[in-house]
Amino acid sequence: MNLDNPLVLRAAHRSEAAAIGSMSRLQVEYGLNWRWTPAKVRRFIKDEETMVLVASVGGVIEGFAIMKFHDDDAHLFLLAVQPKARRSGIGKALVEWLEKSCRTAGIKRIRLEVRATNHEARHFYEHLGYRFVSEVSGYYERREAAIVMAKMLTAGD
Ligand SMILES: CC(C)(COP(=O)(O)OP(=O)(O)OC[C@H]1O[C@@H](n2cnc3c(N)ncnc32)[C@H](O)[C@@H]1OP(=O)(O)O)[C@@H](O)C(=O)NCCC(=O)NCCS
Repeated sequence: MNLDNPLVLRAAHRSEAAAIGSMSRLQVEYGLNWRWTPAKVRRFIKDEETMVLVASVGGVIEGFAIMKFHDDDAHLFLLAVQPKARRSGIGKALVEWLEKSCRTAGIKRIRLEVRATNHEARHFYEHLGYRFVSEVSGYYERREAAIVMAKMLTAGD
């Protein structure tokens, strides 16, 4: 996708919880029970230790990420970009925005889980410097393994 309009990264509004939940269901949770419902997304939008970040192009939400910040590390819960908007740098921009926030907060490590069969996302995270930590069998409803990945943040990244 050619980004004719500028990419804007900003905190999600509560009114966008339904759009984010439905993207999660279609792009991330396909074949599983729907856990990231609009109500759950809304709770995280209100949670002060969580960032629900959206990527908007021309006023349309093309991607989002949800990250929980702890004292020493952060957990990337969810990330998705609309299929037609992929491979134009939106996913990378979302992750880099969150990494910058982590550095500002003195957080040194980001961890995440990705579905073992999701080779595209695993390539994406590897490209951004995330490394394999472990495989947790049955993590997703005892049906699919998760690959745990992490990245150590350094000041110069
Ligand atoms: C994973 C995902 C978020 C990547 O978003 P994106 O905006 O397309 O990624 P970017 O354009 O920023 O890609 C950055 C780099 O990552 C790598 N990459 C991205 N998608 C890739 C793919 N499908 N296969 C291999 N490498 C990939 C490439 O090196 C790419 O750089 P390039 O396009 O210059 O070659 C997107 O594919 C997606 O939403 N997938 C479905 C949901 C999902 O799997 N979420 C992650 C688990 S929660």
